[in-house]
Amino acid sequence: MTSIQKAVQHGRQLLTNKVHNPDQEASLLLAHSINKTKEFLIAHSDEPISDASFQRYQEYLSRRAEGEPIAYIQQQKEFWSLDLKVSPAVLIPRPETELIIEVALELLTGKDHATILDLGTGSGCIALALAKEKPHAQITACDNSSDCIDIAKVNAQNLALDNITFITSHWFQSVDTNNFDIIISNPPYISSDDEDIEYEVQKYEPESALFSCNNGLEDLFHIINHAPNYLSSYGTLLVEHGYKQGNDVRTQFSKCGYNNIHTLQDMQQHERVTQGTVTK
Ligand SMILES: C[S@@+](CC[C@H](N)C(=O)[O-])C[C@H]1O[C@@H](n2cnc3c(N)ncnc32)[C@H](O)[C@@H]1O
Repeated sequence: MTSIQKAVQHGRQLLTNKVHNPDQEASLLLAHSINKTKEFLIAHSDEPISDASFQRYQEYLSRRAEGEPIAYIQQQKEFWSLDLKVSPAVLIPRPETELIIEVALELLTGKDHATILDLGTGSGCIALALAKEKPHAQITACDNSSDCIDIAKVNAQNLALDNITFITSHWFQSVDTNNFDIIISNPPYISSDDEDIEYEVQKYEPESALFSCNNGLEDLFHIINHAPNYLSSYGTLLVEHGYKQGNDVRTQFSKCGYNNIHTLQDMQQHERVTQGTVTK
């Protein structure tokens, strides 16, 4: 048997030059192996860990050293202060996606009973964050992957959020309501020949969540083209997109007759979220 402190040292050595923060990741993986928090490790550094836990820890370390994202190993990711279950079937929620939540909440100021559609819900992160902030809103969340819908439903159940209806749908195909106040989407928007995509992302995250044809714009344009049929008068479409896609996205919004079209930047000052409103 080894102690917590020695196990962390061992993990740090194994992950050095393989991950950005070996010390932090070794601690996270050890905490996950023994089902405790990182704080527990600090307060109990001399305590021994069982052989079974150490074996589990070794397995996690090897997976991480090979490049598997830590969120898939832990089967958990925090988004908007919510603990979400994730699996390789869903995209790992990204911090930059919190911008679209901030913009939606701003638009929903004073509107407690809004109707919201989240297209391509994945882990459910966007729908769940909005459900948490707007408990009286009626939210529909769809994805064409039933595996994603299963995970999103588990997350809703774990968080006791019951104001979301989940449907398996190819974009709008099975959506039977046409007066949403807000339609929100973070669709796949990476071009299949993008050379900047990180190895970890390309190897481990679902292709169907990442890539779109026509330089990454096909799904964005499909959503922009069809959303007006599903929005109420003065309803707004909000989409997340790649940082080089702002111009193309605004042009498409404009071609489809939206008003008040503008793009917001994320924390890196990258164009990330574009919105437009329809008037009918
Ligand atoms: C970039 S991920 C976003 C997931 C989640 N909303 C988030 O922000 O982390 C795109 C999601 O769109 C879904 N998707 C891809 N093509 C779709 C389609 N034709 N119809 C519905 N959903 C689709 C994928 O399964 C994936 O969950």
